[in-house]
Amino acid sequence: MPPVPRWDDLWLNGNLATMAETGPGAEAPYGAIEDGALAVAGGRIAWLGRRVDLPGRPEALAANVHELDGSWMTPGLIDCHTHLVHGGDRAREFELRLQGANYEEIARAGGGILTTVRATRAATQEALVAAARPRLRALLAEGVTTIEIKSGYGLDRDNELKQLRAARQLGAEFPVTVRTTFLGAHAVPPEYDGRAEAYIEEVVIPMIPAVREAGLADAVDAFCETIAFTAEQTARVFEAATAHALAVKLHADQLSDQGGAALAARFGALSADHLEYANEAGIAAMAQSGTVAVLLPGAFYVLGETKVPPVDALRQAGVPIALATDSNPGSAPVASLLLMLNMGCTLFRLTPEEALAGVTRHGARALGLGDSHGTLEVGKVADLAVWRIDQPAELAYWIGFNPLICAVKNGVIRTTGTDNR
Ligand code: NIG
Ligand code: FE
Repeated sequence: MPPVPRWDDLWLNGNLATMAETGPGAEAPYGAIEDGALAVAGGRIAWLGRRVDLPGRPEALAANVHELDGSWMTPGLIDCHTHLVHGGDRAREFELRLQGANYEEIARAGGGILTTVRATRAATQEALVAAARPRLRALLAEGVTTIEIKSGYGLDRDNELKQLRAARQLGAEFPVTVRTTFLGAHAVPPEYDGRAEAYIEEVVIPMIPAVREAGLADAVDAFCETIAFTAEQTARVFEAATAHALAVKLHADQLSDQGGAALAARFGALSADHLEYANEAGIAAMAQSGTVAVLLPGAFYVLGETKVPPVDALRQAGVPIALATDSNPGSAPVASLLLMLNMGCTLFRLTPEEALAGVTRHGARALGLGDSHGTLEVGKVADLAVWRIDQPAELAYWIGFNPLICAVKNGVIRTTGTDNR
């Protein structure tokens, strides 16, 4: 009788960019193990290392042996900040901005986020899911295996719940982990115009226990900005989230310095996102609290911003830096995470290795998934991406070219339709 294989799958004859800080390969750039092997059992990574160190003949070790054929394997990519579920689009505002209007003026005139609120309120859950599917497919085709999706375009109880349910439905339909974030404090809805405090107290805060009990949100986010909510209002939301054991995240210091970085850190936020205007004290506080800096070069690019986030200061302080699409109809009509790697390097001067860490190890941490996702390490979930590239820097180098061969979600191979083998 042949020996019973120990593993379900064994990947061979390629290179691993583990992105891990400890374990095999960790001391090399990208945590690289050239001519490596990786085994999967029960949907988790069961073994990885140099092929020559495999404890036996491949066929004797695993039920299925896969040929990497010189390609590179990385952790599955993580898009840790999106507004993927929304009604309509804002191409008209894109045209207006090209004619000279700016994002804040459009928002103050009742457009911007509120344009999308009207379209999202008018859409059924099924219509929201249908509209998001092609964008999600585009992300999955680039090796994304985990995505965060925020609410924030409903701005009343039923419509916020509808958005969160649509996000959960996408997670049930597609081979991807969906983490949902309640962003009721995204903008003041028209029925509360001029009464931001009342909106926070009457709608946002009561919804926090409701979304938690319904299992519809993994975290709570807010937009702290002159065109949205003050630091005090944001703190009220965070107090309620913390009281109900929900993690917090913050749209912080995107358009002006609101002390958002320090505020996020004070509440032990998983992440503070955007950060173009973050100040030194805020960055030091983030380093202390272990809050991840999520940089969003797509929004920076689309809005024609000139003030880049303080990357050097974040680096020096040892703040983990993640990158995400911010996929949304206003500031970031983006459905490519690979393009964000490129823009993270070209616009923000991240290294290609930092950019890749931003959509793997640090992206996982920004979602509270650092123990289970984001690196190739024994015991972690087998979310993997296999690329037809000669070196990992290519993931940030190409523009509009997708070298993915296949992705693996929870140990199961997901093909993309592209043939890069
Ligand atoms: O992350 N900054 C606030 N929220 C989104 C933009 C949303 C919108 O314009 O619809 C962002 O950029
Ligand atoms: Fe955002």
